[in-house]
Amino acid sequence: MSEELVLLDVTEQVAVVTLNRPAQRNALNRPLLEALCARIEQLAPRRDVRAVVFTGAGDKSFCAGADLKERAGMSEEQTRSFLRLIRGTMDLVEGLPMPTFAAVDGFAFGGGCELMLACDFRVLTERATVGLTECALGIIPGAGGTQRLPRLVGLARAKELIFTARRLSGPDALAVGLCEYVTPAGEAVAKCRAIADEIKKCAPLAVEAAKSAIVGGYGIGIQEGLVLERRAYEVTLFTTDRVEALAAFREKRPAVFQGK
Ligand code: COA
Repeated sequence: MSEELVLLDVTEQVAVVTLNRPAQRNALNRPLLEALCARIEQLAPRRDVRAVVFTGAGDKSFCAGADLKERAGMSEEQTRSFLRLIRGTMDLVEGLPMPTFAAVDGFAFGGGCELMLACDFRVLTERATVGLTECALGIIPGAGGTQRLPRLVGLARAKELIFTARRLSGPDALAVGLCEYVTPAGEAVAKCRAIADEIKKCAPLAVEAAKSAIVGGYGIGIQEGLVLERRAYEVTLFTTDRVEALAAFREKRPAVFQGK
């Protein structure tokens, strides 16, 4: 049952993780979050998966955020426990070693928008509507939104979007830097796959090391960040793939990487 709440398909080294409660607009209740965590933990060590795309079932919603009906029946302590779970889930998404995408072809509100923010890339469609709507509900973004949104769109813009609980269309989200691409309806996952195909041409361990340097270094001082970069570079120095890339260059042929 819980497996069905979050579907997983791995095709051509790209995992598509689908939130699957379309009748409830893929709202995040506890069982769905637990299933999502389990999926992420399954994917994290998989060397055959080069990218992960998060998306929502149905043609209306990526994710309508925390399940407000479940929330209404929670005690304060249960709400705190739920918040730990949803925060932890977003941290797991952010911690995935391979590149991650959110393919958003509908609503992404509250926790749904925070899931999108925890990914490396966001591809919205023309019919997407996204926003951190929490202040309109008497709460604040509690799964990383107040921290990840300013890092993406800038301080003042993030304040405006959060204080107003504004809902943005795909094109408006693109204009403020809240997503990287907007596609026609129904084409978000395909666009993510197209970017993943480009990434797949690069060496897996190099992409992983680059991600760890970029994510780890963002927001800390430049000198500390440069130390992280040096450490991340070290990982690539003695790989077979680095030697293969140099041989391929010499022999004027495409490199064949093995992730070693
Ligand atoms: N939690 C629980 N159930 C939700 C939900 C949420 N966040 N969002 C939608 N649903 C449920 C509705 O209650 C409804 O259930 P029902 O058929 O049993 O009554 C079903 O999903 C369809 O929702 P509906 O509002 O009829 O669909 P819609 O397509 O017209 O609108 C939304 C969808 C997402 C725009 C609207 O439901 C909405 O604004 N939801 C709240 C989003 C939000 O602010 N989330 C932040 C939470 S912190």
